[in-house]
Amino acid sequence: MKRIVILTLLVAVALTTAYLILTIYDKNMKFGRMWETPAVRPHEEKLLVMESGVVPFYEGELIYKRAEGEDLISPFQKTNPEIIESGKALYFTYCTQCHGKYFDGNGTVGQSFHPLPTDLRSKKVQSQSEGVLFKSISYGVPDGRQPPLATTIRIQDRWKIIAFLKSLPPHN
Ligand code: HEC
Repeated sequence: MKRIVILTLLVAVALTTAYLILTIYDKNMKFGRMWETPAVRPHEEKLLVMESGVVPFYEGELIYKRAEGEDLISPFQKTNPEIIESGKALYFTYCTQCHGKYFDGNGTVGQSFHPLPTDLRSKKVQSQSEGVLFKSISYGVPDGRQPPLATTIRIQDRWKIIAFLKSLPPHN
């Protein structure tokens, strides 16, 4: 019995010493300890609410998302050769894999889609206004397979791609 008491006491002393050493070590730790970092759990803090009447002064995506395609007007002149040229470069970054290098819908990746990617020279596409095209490229086509690219391509760049599409020679 005596042995057990002594052993327990020894263990208690050892544990307390270890704890004290650790505490001193922790307190003198130059960089602080992880457990000192305030932990904020999800939904623990109230979400920030945007004041009403506050509008983004640059690239407000929601403004475009809410608008009707017909009401949207490109900030660029669609005949401006510089805009068309940069739209072309952007097309070959973002669209060519599906719509193809000849804009006919024969891109490598596009072939796994049903329906196949639309021929961008076709009357169906060319007859649509720039704003309507902007909406389909940005948010997809309802019940269609065009991917929504709003989070992939900057607003200005989308308009440039459209200027380039509009410059394509017509085709049936
Ligand atoms: C991942 C493949 C993919 C990529 C990338 C892609 N598209 Fe498409 N796109 C499609 C497919 C598939 C359709 C056919 C949609 C349908 O008819 O359901 C389509 C349809 C369209 C249409 C016709 C929309 C309509 O009115 O029916 C336009 C315009 C278009 N794409 C433009 C673009 C442009 C511009 C880009 C690049 C910014 C692009 N797409 C990138 C797959 C793609």
